[in-house]
Amino acid sequence: RGPDPFTATGQPSGDTTETRAQGGAYLTTATGTRLPDTDHSLKAGPRGPVLLRDHHLREKITHFDHERIPERVVHARGAGAHGVFRGYGSAAKVTKAAFLAKDVETPVFVRFSTVLGSRGSADAVRDTRGFATKFYTSEGVFDLVGNNIPVFFIQDAIKFPDVIHAGKPHPDREIPQAQSAHDTFWDFVSLHTEATHHTMWNMSDRGIPRSYRMMEGFGVHTFRLVAADGGTVLAKFHWKPKAGVHSLVWEEAQIVNGVDPDFHRRDLADAIEAGAYPEWEFGIQVFPDSPDQTFEGIDLLDPTKIVPEELAPVQPIGLLTLNANPANFFAETEQVAFHVGHLVPGIDVTDDPLLAGRLFSYLDTQITRLGGPNFVQLPINRPHAPVNDMLRDSMHQTAVHTGVAPYRPNSLDGGCPFQAPGGYVEVPVPVEAAARGRTAPASYADHFSQPRLFWLSMSPVEQAHIIAAYTFELSKVFEQAIRERQLQVLARVDPYLCEQVALGLGLPVPEGKPEVYVEPSPALSQVGRQWPTTG
Ligand code: HEM
Repeated sequence: RGPDPFTATGQPSGDTTETRAQGGAYLTTATGTRLPDTDHSLKAGPRGPVLLRDHHLREKITHFDHERIPERVVHARGAGAHGVFRGYGSAAKVTKAAFLAKDVETPVFVRFSTVLGSRGSADAVRDTRGFATKFYTSEGVFDLVGNNIPVFFIQDAIKFPDVIHAGKPHPDREIPQAQSAHDTFWDFVSLHTEATHHTMWNMSDRGIPRSYRMMEGFGVHTFRLVAADGGTVLAKFHWKPKAGVHSLVWEEAQIVNGVDPDFHRRDLADAIEAGAYPEWEFGIQVFPDSPDQTFEGIDLLDPTKIVPEELAPVQPIGLLTLNANPANFFAETEQVAFHVGHLVPGIDVTDDPLLAGRLFSYLDTQITRLGGPNFVQLPINRPHAPVNDMLRDSMHQTAVHTGVAPYRPNSLDGGCPFQAPGGYVEVPVPVEAAARGRTAPASYADHFSQPRLFWLSMSPVEQAHIIAAYTFELSKVFEQAIRERQLQVLARVDPYLCEQVALGLGLPVPEGKPEVYVEPSPALSQVGRQWPTTG
């Protein structure tokens, strides 16, 4: 048994796979009493009855009865891997985060996931993929909880339960939505046209990745970076796979889901086991921290918008290599707990209203999922930096805290000062009077320019795939009114796209023309067919 990070020393062992099970040469009870027989219950005579006094029988069955924990409310299906991140030092001018300094190596754990399916669902469904990274830095844990699509369905977290309810199985039959879309999903996205951009990416080849190893990752929100001299910039995070971006075609995906529902999970584990370690370059797009937090007319607080790479190139700042499979799926991949609020000095959040809700949601849900607030003590969640908090007790507490005064300042335990040098300090930002409703700038209401930009950037083959995907998915929608409403949405993106999907569905082509927001900068209006590539 190694040093315990939660005893009086406060020093972490740094081993996320540390095991306290399976010590010694003999099978024992949970309390260490050796067991000569685990195959037969204690009976009064060879034909029974079985006796209640058989503690091992009761312990074994009781523990089994409670083996399952709730699956994640979203992103329940996933696969994880350990790795290492090496900073290039190129971000040092804009952030003081220690793990981004030149040649600093930081252990990481990454979990990839689908969003809507349950734990046992198939991998190659058409869906967004999660790309969550836990950096065990010397300054505490930094979690980048991103997706493989750079935008999100909604602009305000208060809509998150709604969009997920619309995408999850219908409550009557519990038939999953992820593989073939149904009425509630298309009802939602056709009524909430801010979802059009994310939905376009889902209907493109990005919605059916070939492999987790061949996906981009995006932090989606704009973050604020803080330099050593206190200067700030706004930034978006990107992961670029060294293996390139590749997708399945829909027919392949359907076959794969039947033949090998674990396709992505197997692919990741096999590649790592074979020593073909997947790699991603970490990069940032950097923008001035201007008072209006826009860049070239794009609102940086609107998570339904990207900033084209022609306008703000992605600058490489580090390399991620996944080089070890989890030893135990439950202990690591299932119990890992990411949180957008796990930040380190040099990285701060912005006022993106979607991010604000996430800052609340993750810890809240994990208290249910992982049975109380002490899951940070699980090996996979432990920071590799010393922990000295004043959080005490509660369920599953494994630390043996010492001292009598878990408050600061105190005059009994030699209490340390409130503010350690080099500590995490939120950047002060101006706030305005509270208001509910559409207080965001007008560009929040522009739901079609960027889906159109995305559509126009596609090659003819990619466009054909998008048309086929919309046609296939909408053909599963029972309510004709929903199909027609979605066709009207497509007419506002591009007439050809709309016409082709309408033809495929055998429905009349609705009137309509593309809606393009008219205030963007001259630079943005230059961004055309070349942007972006999907590989
Ligand atoms: C889980 C990404 C928006 C609530 C996750 C996971 C990812 C992710 C990658 C899986 C983490 C893992 O592998 O364990 C995102 C992204 C979002 C977004 C990129 C938008 C930019 C939201 C919003 C909410 C939310 C708006 C709620 C207001 C949750 C919850 C979980 C989750 C409850 C389950 C966490 C757990 O049980 O550990 N999200 N999410 N997400 N997300 Fe999000």
